Amino acid sequence: MSRKYKGIIFDLDGVLCTTDQFHYLARKALADHEGIYFDETINQRLRGVSRMESLRIVLEHTDQVYSDEALQAFAASKNSVYRSLLERLTPSDMPADARPTLESLMEKGYLLAVGSSSKNTQFILERIGLAHFFDAVADGNDITRSKPDPEVFLLAAERLRLPPAACLVVEDASAGIEAAERGGFDAAGIGSAGHNPHARFHLERLSQLLAVL
Ligand code: G6P
Ligand code: MG
Repeated sequence: MSRKYKGIIFDLDGVLCTTDQFHYLARKALADHEGIYFDETINQRLRGVSRMESLRIVLEHTDQVYSDEALQAFAASKNSVYRSLLERLTPSDMPADARPTLESLMEKGYLLAVGSSSKNTQFILERIGLAHFFDAVADGNDITRSKPDPEVFLLAAERLRLPPAACLVVEDASAGIEAAERGGFDAAGIGSAGHNPHARFHLERLSQLLAVL
């Protein structure tokens, strides 16, 4: 195989499934409970950002100072609301072309991985029925530095036993595109990163990957 990419590393939320609305509702419940302003625009900034860093950004809109214990309790409470919302997640919450695109990539011999900041990655992959497609998963449980740090993508590549230059990252968040660039990966931007100038490829839908590879 002499082609440039041997592995494809997918972000999860916003690329392989639609969970933004569930994150929004769970964060909004927490913010409302604490009397803190929160809206969809702020939620957009939290794409690709780890659970604790996201919480810190939600709390930017209050002067209240919280203890570490309170922060941990907030994160746990948001996650428990989010997990109960995820129970509603079905294969219809992934783009219609996700499964056929992954099948084609597998048939063409690409190694496939997920590189996600989410600690709920495995649960989500199982809910949408995609878990068996991936040769490697690196997620929020494995890393200490959130995107835009490249740690999660570097770990995914290592688990595929490929160097970054042989992997293409597929991302919907600007933090993820930056992480890919900093890690030495080419990136394909999709969704809100569909026009990101730092991405090498710009996709309107996942199936277009097959045309650019
Ligand atoms: C994804 C989402 C972020 C979220 C992060 C952690 O990257 O885009 O908005 O904060 O995962 O999610 P978790 O499921 O671990 O709370
Ligand atoms: Mg994402």
